Amino acid sequence: MRSEIEGPVVTIDGPAGSGKSSTAREVARRLTFRHLDSGALYRGLTYALIEAGILEAEWANLAVKELHALGLTLESTKIGFEVRLTGQLLVDELRSVEVTDRVSLVARVPAVRECLIGLQREAGSGGGLIVDGRDMGTVVFPEAELKVYLVADLRERARRRLLESDREVFHDVDLAEEALALEERDDLDSRRAISPLKCPPGAVRIDTTHLSFEEQVSVIVELVNELTVRKRSSSFSGLDQGIT
Ligand code: CDP
Repeated sequence: MRSEIEGPVVTIDGPAGSGKSSTAREVARRLTFRHLDSGALYRGLTYALIEAGILEAEWANLAVKELHALGLTLESTKIGFEVRLTGQLLVDELRSVEVTDRVSLVARVPAVRECLIGLQREAGSGGGLIVDGRDMGTVVFPEAELKVYLVADLRERARRRLLESDREVFHDVDLAEEALALEERDDLDSRRAISPLKCPPGAVRIDTTHLSFEEQVSVIVELVNELTVRKRSSSFSGLDQGIT
């Protein structure tokens, strides 16, 4: 387990396509923190349910024990975490259309959230973590010292998602279709009863619509560095007080 001295847990939440995961990964790389993409866990469980042939109509009634029995694990690596299903590393499977279309339906099931919260907290137990998702600052790590909420205009988020995909060209109609899919997922994520998507109290809200990737990464790296300096100087002044 890593010690708290290695850095804080920093949460980055926000709507679909706001660039949380890519930003969090790069921030973690620059600070030599680890990165956890909590969405990958929800996607992994969705993939596991599809693979197990469990029908959508049954998802709401699944027990935590049954979900654990599917065999989804989070393996720690030097730079972050890998999602595995009965030992098999999941990467491309997590971003498939079948998974993306269903993940928000899975994520609103109470037993699903209960099943995954422990894995996420364990990942953050040693500090030095940049974690992104929907409820990182509100529910999973409410004590985090730095919380970021990333937003961007819907059209810009859709444009970025299409650029990330393999398509070399896309048209207005593709953009409208992607925007609709993102909007539907945001709607499900924000309206659900448990752990809805919302800006955590005390979070730094960053609108990235007009920021470059480099700019948004730098802003967050700077915020983490400021926090580290503040923590160091308060622990020094605590030391001074101890001596005098
Ligand atoms: O596509 P995008 O990267 O924005 O989403 P993701 O982070 O991969 O998350 C996929 C879905 O998982 C979200 O739309 C939510 O329904 C769910 N999720 C969640 O409920 N709570 C989290 N902490 C992370 C993801």
